[in-house]
Amino acid sequence: MSKQYHYDVIIIGAGAAGMTLALQLPENISIALIAKGDYQQCSTYYAQGGISAVLEQDDSFNLHSTDTQNAGSGICDEKTVKMVAESGPSVINWLADLGMPFTKDRQDVTASGFHLTREGGHSRRRVVHAADATGKAMQKTLQAHVAEKSNIDVIEHSIAIDLITRNKLCVGLYAYNIQNHQVNVFSAKKVVLATGGASKVYLYTSNPDGATGDGIAMAWRAGCRVANMEFIQFHPTCLFHPEAKSFLITEALRGEGAKLLLPNGKRFMQHFDERAELAPRDIVARAIDHEMKRLGTECVYLDISHKSRAFIKSHFPTIYEKCKQFDIDITRQPIPVVPAAHYTCGGVMIDLDGQTDIQNLYAIGEVSYSGLHGANRMASNSLLECMTFAIASARHITSTLDSTKKPGRLKNWDESLVTDSDEEVVVSHNWDELRHFMWDYVGIVRTNKRLERALNRTSLLKREINEYYGNFRVTPDLLELRNLVVVAELIIRSALARHESRGLHYTLDFPDTGVSAEITMLTPDKKPQKNTTKISLISS
Ligand code: FAD
Ligand code: SIN
Repeated sequence: MSKQYHYDVIIIGAGAAGMTLALQLPENISIALIAKGDYQQCSTYYAQGGISAVLEQDDSFNLHSTDTQNAGSGICDEKTVKMVAESGPSVINWLADLGMPFTKDRQDVTASGFHLTREGGHSRRRVVHAADATGKAMQKTLQAHVAEKSNIDVIEHSIAIDLITRNKLCVGLYAYNIQNHQVNVFSAKKVVLATGGASKVYLYTSNPDGATGDGIAMAWRAGCRVANMEFIQFHPTCLFHPEAKSFLITEALRGEGAKLLLPNGKRFMQHFDERAELAPRDIVARAIDHEMKRLGTECVYLDISHKSRAFIKSHFPTIYEKCKQFDIDITRQPIPVVPAAHYTCGGVMIDLDGQTDIQNLYAIGEVSYSGLHGANRMASNSLLECMTFAIASARHITSTLDSTKKPGRLKNWDESLVTDSDEEVVVSHNWDELRHFMWDYVGIVRTNKRLERALNRTSLLKREINEYYGNFRVTPDLLELRNLVVVAELIIRSALARHESRGLHYTLDFPDTGVSAEITMLTPDKKPQKNTTKISLISS
């Protein structure tokens, strides 16, 4: 039997954005923190390089903002960039006060006392980190504090299916419990999407399996606008090994002097950009893609072996150990690397308080489009964005909660017209097909012809998946696939709408960057729905 639950605030997602928000809200507010896996199944847990923040005398908010704008190819929102850059120091202090084990500066060089590393696009050393496993340290720190709060119920292994809206207000959601297969109804005064990105739509990705764009697809179905979905960031350096599942090799390696090499041992980045290995990610990934295609080689190499063994092992212990598992000793030999899908720069449109187009619905973190990243996110700006918008939306939610009406009882999930599937193979086949053609046709270098080919495939798949969804009981794979196909379509439609190359969107049909710098905004055809029960979605 489906159950009904009520909370003041429901946060979907327990990564950096979701947990920070939960901790920033006052303790007299009842909160549900819903996650589809456990605490480790989010991108935050895997973050390596760090969090950017202006902490030193030779740095400034203006410099951080200018670097962000330059990396974003001129289409970052000025107000957002300023707000995020200015929040850096307080975010780092808040985390340090919670006990986050940031790496200390052992040489007494920095005023802050933290070791600062550097990454692509940054004109200063401003990346605070916990060795090469910043996300794991952050996730553990936040998790420990969440566990102490009696007003926060953590509901793991529960997949949000769809938002419920009434008279253009968000009033709750349906969520599938993976353990007992029930779909429960959650009502709330405020609902927050903190569901992360969508890089799993590509065959090769640095992201964990759950990065299926659920929040973007749910918001889109409910009637929210999305922006800049064509800007999918490919991280230049993921470990190339059949068993490594695109394990990330942090950009901080390049920040500490690692060089990119061709198979013949020669450097090449200086031919593409004067900043060479420290150019923004779009440029480095495209250069690697170009060289791999030109030479017909499967990978390029990243070499840090000129640094001392002690330095490498203390700064990059996770990467050292991971590579060792594959018989690569990074203190002595170069690491084989390839680009892989890494970050969704676009997403659900929000304002500076994290509010979406639907009242009482917020989006924070990678699921959102806040205007920070423009056409290409600068390294280590994402965790900072998660925290900044979690804090901003906590403020807004707190000040408006009392005046928000508690929703009444919501309609139960209706399963009366569906049966168990006898064709799971359709779902797994469609997963594979979608991720393959997105990689082949909507990757680092695009053309209209390939994009149109991908759009045709998406339309066919969408029809098939929706039909399947209408006839059979939901499963986690089906729910994620249904979201992936929506996100794929949004990426392709946005890419087709941009008649220029800019940042991460590079197309052979329009190789130049245009003069008018605009964002790509898509608006759902339909108005926010009154009620998103399963039946009404199928017919829409
Ligand atoms: P996530 O941390 O991905 O959390 C998403 C949450 O939503 C999870 O709890 C998930 O279970 C839940 N969820 C999703 N869908 C549903 C659903 N339907 N129902 C219920 N729950 C759902 N950025 C930096 O700034 N610095 C770095 O050093 C850095 N390194 C990175 C390294 C790697 C390997 C990766 C993959 C990313 C890295 N990034 C880095 C990017 C950054 O980690 C992410 O953008 C950021 O952590 C996203 O946080 P989030 O809270 O928005 O989402
Ligand atoms: C990395 O450590 O290279 C990833 C940093 C990021 O994605 O911001």
